[in-house]
Amino acid sequence: FRVGVLASGTGSNLQAILDRVHGREADVVAVGSDKPGARALARAEALGIATATFPGADFPDREARDTAMAQWLRSEGVELVVLAGYMQIVTPTFLAAFPQRVINVHPALLPAFPGIRAVEQALAYGVKVFGVTVHFVDEGVDSGPVILQRALELPDVTDADEIRARLHPVEHDLLTSAVALIARGAVRPDPEHPRRISVEV
Ligand code: GRF
Repeated sequence: FRVGVLASGTGSNLQAILDRVHGREADVVAVGSDKPGARALARAEALGIATATFPGADFPDREARDTAMAQWLRSEGVELVVLAGYMQIVTPTFLAAFPQRVINVHPALLPAFPGIRAVEQALAYGVKVFGVTVHFVDEGVDSGPVILQRALELPDVTDADEIRARLHPVEHDLLTSAVALIARGAVRPDPEHPRRISVEV
């Protein structure tokens, strides 16, 4: 099962996939980024995995960027695209190339706190329970059907960096589980309620 990963940052979620799923349930065959220096790219290169960068400045618009990116991923035989800290919104053009085959990890319990700075949003709201969501990507922002979620009670923590640090291992667990489950064919939308995803653990 061939997986492509898009990442903009340090790529600890990518690393979790490489450490726990790669060469087992799935093979990471392509890692792309919008950021030429992203550490995620180096993590992939270290294992001889194909990498490519698609900086916004190299393309006339987002459609053109996403068309090139989708073509590249398809040329590598990618069956599932994982957004692992990819800080761009993918266009409908991109999603059409991978229908129901793009997933994202988000550091909040959706539908609460979508978009950027989710942890800051949750802190500003004053919640006591934080969490992580892995979901299919649709045309909205963090709005697609939920695959896996896990809550983390942190009633006394008020520092965003500390909350992010506590959420990161949860992200790694849920994202690696989701990739393995999808590779195994264990994740299916309910035909009657397409937002309701059944996960056969
Ligand atoms: C994660 O917190 C993810 O939820 C967010 O971006 C971060 C990426 O972290 N969308 P890393 O680059 O995988 O360490």
